[in-house]
Amino acid sequence: MEPDIIVRGERAALGPLRMDLAPAYARWFNDPEARRGILRRGIATPETDAAWVEEAMRAAAHRRPESVHFTIYDVADLAPVGSAGLYGIDHMMGRAGLGIMIGERRGQGLGTDATRLLARWGFVDLGLVNVMLEAMSWNESAIRAYARAGFKEIGRRRGSQLSEGRRCDEVLMDAIPADVLT
Ligand SMILES: CC(C)(COP(=O)(O)OP(=O)(O)OC[C@H]1O[C@@H](n2cnc3c(N)ncnc32)[C@H](O)[C@@H]1OP(=O)(O)O)[C@@H](O)C(=O)NCCC(=O)NCCS
Repeated sequence: MEPDIIVRGERAALGPLRMDLAPAYARWFNDPEARRGILRRGIATPETDAAWVEEAMRAAAHRRPESVHFTIYDVADLAPVGSAGLYGIDHMMGRAGLGIMIGERRGQGLGTDATRLLARWGFVDLGLVNVMLEAMSWNESAIRAYARAGFKEIGRRRGSQLSEGRRCDEVLMDAIPADVLT
């Protein structure tokens, strides 16, 4: 059976989080290459991610959610490849943070397209006016993917990240509707 898809792009599609994928979300999060790039720390297990899925699904069901998380699929065969979400959604100010993790099939355009789809979701479905994300300064391919999706660098928080034992800057990027809605 095909998974539920909420939005479909050229390369990626977004659907709800799935409890049966909790072990996959945990495996992607624990992958050393992924851990190098992400800003959240901690060790994932199928149990911690099952609890996260339950909490995130409840949050996303709200009419004015504080966060919405999705499963990312490859449109080519609808294989699940990662997850992404908007968090810290401030409906009064119209802004949110964006986080993304491609666990499989990196470097094939899926991260770029999923970032674009998610930002559009924030602007069109939630009425947001600004979405921001952060990346480590050495993570050039991530920064390039976000720039291709329409995000622009707005500054660097100096020395505020620790990556493999070394301090690095955090690059802040944001998007407004005109950057991604064409
Ligand atoms: C960062 C991340 C989200 C980017 O997603 P991705 O799917 O790997 O990125 P994309 O494929 O869209 O873009 C990366 C590269 O693929 C190439 N690419 C883009 N579209 C492509 C396509 N259709 N076919 C082949 N290659 C393509 C791009 O040229 C790009 O190469 P570049 O780095 O030389 O510019 C993902 O790699 C990831 O989750 N990494 C692990 C965790 C992490 O670092 N997260 C970032 C936290 S801020």
